[in-house]
Amino acid sequence: MPLQLDVIVASTRPGRVGVHVGRWFHEVAREHSGFETHWIDLAEVGLPLVDEPKHPRLRDYQHEHTKRWSAIVDAADAFVLVTPEYNYSPTPALTNAIDTVLHEWAYKPVGFVSYGGVSGGLRAVQATKITLSAVKAVPINEAVVVPFGAAGQGRRVPPERDPGEGRDDAAARAGPLGGGAQTAEEPLRTPVIASTSAAAP
Ligand SMILES: Cc1cc2nc3c(=O)[nH]c(=O)nc-3n(C[C@H](O)[C@H](O)[C@H](O)COP(=O)(O)O)c2cc1C
Repeated sequence: MPLQLDVIVASTRPGRVGVHVGRWFHEVAREHSGFETHWIDLAEVGLPLVDEPKHPRLRDYQHEHTKRWSAIVDAADAFVLVTPEYNYSPTPALTNAIDTVLHEWAYKPVGFVSYGGVSGGLRAVQATKITLSAVKAVPINEAVVVPFGAAGQGRRVPPERDPGEGRDDAAARAGPLGGGAQTAEEPLRTPVIASTSAAAP
């Protein structure tokens, strides 16, 4: 059975560029990888701000939306986060989505496709890696960075129309699509899954 790669679009606002960048990457992933790729749009997932009474380590969720999100993250073997930066930080939707569950992320590789101004969203990526380390996910160094200036030769165009030379290759190498991280981390996940079910009441 192929491993499941979830491509997660981390911006949720109306008119967002993220959905275009995400579609471009999703296509590249489907063409290049041996993964079964799934499209996850945080705007469609529609999680409220963390509203569970119990700590996610207990995995004792009260709300259907949390149970649905838990099942989505749990089912994936690897992730690529398609993310801009807002005020040098991850989008609130992304931080909220990571915080909402815990064990479901553990020992799964996470790659990045980031975009934005001159920095191409890299400050948000760095900050997100700290959050991911708390949930024991495994951020991958190889990444796709889309500064809008470079993508559009000075024009602010959605990069799905002009992803830029070499970016498809970068996408093919990025994160869990390359490097074998998906198989390297897999044995680590078994004890976590076992201890998680033991910890839950
Ligand atoms: C609230 C907000 C904060 C932003 N902060 C940054 C920033 O710190 N660095 C940056 O390069 N771009 C920043 N931008 C510009 C975004 O890179 C650009 O709007 C991008 O299209 C946002 O992604 P989205 O369209 O998918 O929401 C910001 C945009 C918004 C809406």
